[in-house]
Amino acid sequence: MTYTSSTVRVPDVAAVPRHIAIIMDGNGRWATQRRLPRVAGHTRGVEAVRTVVEACARCGVEYLTLFAFSSENWRRPNDEVSFLMRLFVTALEREVGKLHANGIRLRVVGDLAMFDKRIQDLIKRAETKTARNTRLTLTIAANYGGRWDIMQASRKLAEEAVQAGHAAEISEASFTQHLALAYAPEPDLFIRTGGEQRISNFLLWQMAYTELYFTDIFWPDFDGAALGQAIASYAERERRFGRTSAQLEPQVQNADSLPC
Ligand code: IPE
Ligand code: IPE
Ligand code: MG
Repeated sequence: MTYTSSTVRVPDVAAVPRHIAIIMDGNGRWATQRRLPRVAGHTRGVEAVRTVVEACARCGVEYLTLFAFSSENWRRPNDEVSFLMRLFVTALEREVGKLHANGIRLRVVGDLAMFDKRIQDLIKRAETKTARNTRLTLTIAANYGGRWDIMQASRKLAEEAVQAGHAAEISEASFTQHLALAYAPEPDLFIRTGGEQRISNFLLWQMAYTELYFTDIFWPDFDGAALGQAIASYAERERRFGRTSAQLEPQVQNADSLPC
């Protein structure tokens, strides 16, 4: 893997983000507004996932990371948690064939030991089946927390040091290779639907220089057009990575010439 870090080296930037990370929020409120049970919003949320994955693949986005279940979401009522687990199983059973047919590689990151053996097996099988696909890498963050990720990477570095019998070389490079998303570049664009403007323990380390985009649209209503707007907003940003405006290469592409 080629190691890149936005705090070590200025990354190359294109008008279409290479990596988009999304907090898919607002399912419950979408349903409540329609006098439906909250879980109906989660079911519709899966449809929005399908739409956005297809749109990203079409637009040439290389990595899409979706926050599906946070390490704090276990605090929800048991019924809702069980529903989400069942939905996860159904989605894995139904969607993986289609992902594979479309050249999409699936990865699941998070503390997976907390899930049922059945879910863990489905994840392993799906990851193996799609491992060689190169069109788009879709990562589902499940029982994921940014702090968990930083802690587990630190633990692995410490274990390496114990085994080697001397202190580990601690650098950004050695640390980030143990993060759950070590195979992906840092996100260029972060999107949160549902109106809240917070990170909620998502990719804490990786978002050092990510562009942030917040929309009031509830996740089940987020579609290709909404994604296009987020990407257009991203294309207008000036990513300076610490430098001044005058030091940047002139922008060659504007939002009108975007592929999506
Ligand atoms: C996001 O929607 C989905 C998950 C966290 C699993 P929410 O369920 O948080 O919806 P709101 O924020 O309550 O509307
Ligand atoms: C963040 O949404 C987690 C996911 C979308 C999976 P939450 O709805 O759990 O976030 P908070 O609790 O409002 O911060
Ligand atoms: Mg929420």
